[in-house]
Amino acid sequence: MAWDDVPEWAKDVTASILAAVKEKDPFTFYHCCRVGRNAKKLAKAMGLNEFEQIVLEFSGLFHDVGKVGVPDDILLKPGRLTANEVEVMKAHPLKSAQIVEPLATLPLFRFTLPGIRYHHERIDGTGYPFNLDGEKIPLFARVVSVVDCVDAMTNTRPYRKALPAEKVIAELKEFSGSQFDAELVKIYLQASPHWSKEEKDDHDSEAIVRTLLEEAA
Ligand SMILES: [Fe+2]
Repeated sequence: MAWDDVPEWAKDVTASILAAVKEKDPFTFYHCCRVGRNAKKLAKAMGLNEFEQIVLEFSGLFHDVGKVGVPDDILLKPGRLTANEVEVMKAHPLKSAQIVEPLATLPLFRFTLPGIRYHHERIDGTGYPFNLDGEKIPLFARVVSVVDCVDAMTNTRPYRKALPAEKVIAELKEFSGSQFDAELVKIYLQASPHWSKEEKDDHDSEAIVRTLLEEAA
């Protein structure tokens, strides 16, 4: 399946879900847009085919949409979360999957579910919600995890300043094989320095939620 084969209704429903996320929390919306874009780029660098790249793009776009179900006083809390609040927050991957499940009649959307549901699992088995380890974590979830965490580290939050690029690279290397899939970290570190240059002629993927994304840059 090429980008042109993605049904218009699928793009429209994606834009609609993301518009709801933007109403709830603009930061989460922009984060999802960036993770979608970068998941697609990492998929391409891995040599995955076009359909798989598109699935990963949608997996990234949807991975955190379940945060609409997290109360504002937890989602937007400027300080540290209590143990109870952390538990509420940890439900968001399953909430994201629940939001996408009704669309699973379309294979493109069905294949996004593992990447969404398991994006907070860690290679060493200490992630959530299922404590899966190693290759029990679906490949697409391991991909989303890398680009998700890089995006989280490179953006300032009320409780934490953005890390400089060298520090992000150091963190990726430090947690390669424990938090992140070591092979994917390797590919990410090789490929990502070239991405901004490629972006200009890689506009097909940008067609998704284009009008919404215009502000996201
Ligand atoms: Fe998440």
